[in-house]
Amino acid sequence: MNKTVIANWKMNGNSKTSKEWASEVCDYFSSHDTDAEIVVCPPFPLLPLLKNCFDGCSTRVPIHLGGQDCHMESKGAYTGDTSADLLKDVGCRYVIVGHSERRSYAGESNDLVRQKAVAAIKAGVIPVICIGETQQQREEGETMAVIARQINESVPVDAAIGHFILAYEPVWAIGSGNVPTMDEIKEVHLAIVKKVSEHVRAKNAVDIAEISVLYGGSVKPDNAGEIMALENVAGVLVGGASLKADDFCKIISS
Ligand code: PGA
Repeated sequence: MNKTVIANWKMNGNSKTSKEWASEVCDYFSSHDTDAEIVVCPPFPLLPLLKNCFDGCSTRVPIHLGGQDCHMESKGAYTGDTSADLLKDVGCRYVIVGHSERRSYAGESNDLVRQKAVAAIKAGVIPVICIGETQQQREEGETMAVIARQINESVPVDAAIGHFILAYEPVWAIGSGNVPTMDEIKEVHLAIVKKVSEHVRAKNAVDIAEISVLYGGSVKPDNAGEIMALENVAGVLVGGASLKADDFCKIISS
């Protein structure tokens, strides 16, 4: 399966830096090939600007857009929110749902995350459903139980494989420079694909090899290759290192 590399800019970037970033990435992929599915998730107001930049550049590979969140309804009186339908309308192929920062700062529950994933799938946008344990949960040996509960409650049970992807992001690895060992990543990814296949099996025929689980948390140019080579790692979700076009291109090439 081709790898997916997603840039999550979080609340960073502006018109000027976005144009510069897009132009560097366009230049790079005008002369380099990759099999990877490349996605950038900027803050909402920058989506049309980036779409324009990418429509106008002659990369050998498409660069897709994604949102960082969506509402569970398709429209209505929800001041400040954005629907998956609107993300689709402005050109997004993906949307991140249930990122740990939204789970902690915006109090999002597994149940809400699942409803957002359902809304995304209905709108024709692929939800990237984020799961992961905190430092304390890992220290207390609860990682697998936490992951299982997040999958049970945040992954729509009747979603077809291929219509959603997961991102395993240990909360303690995000933005910290600390990365689990390769064995730890392998162990959790295997547990995730098994759990997801059980979870959706009642409604779907499941080929375990088609379940996409990205890794996220302190991915950098110097560890991305090793992480992406692991079994059951379908790609990476990159925060901090995706802000520098140069680092992001190096991660994709690795
Ligand atoms: P990081 O963030 O790469 O800066 O650790 C990853 C994420 O939050 O998606």
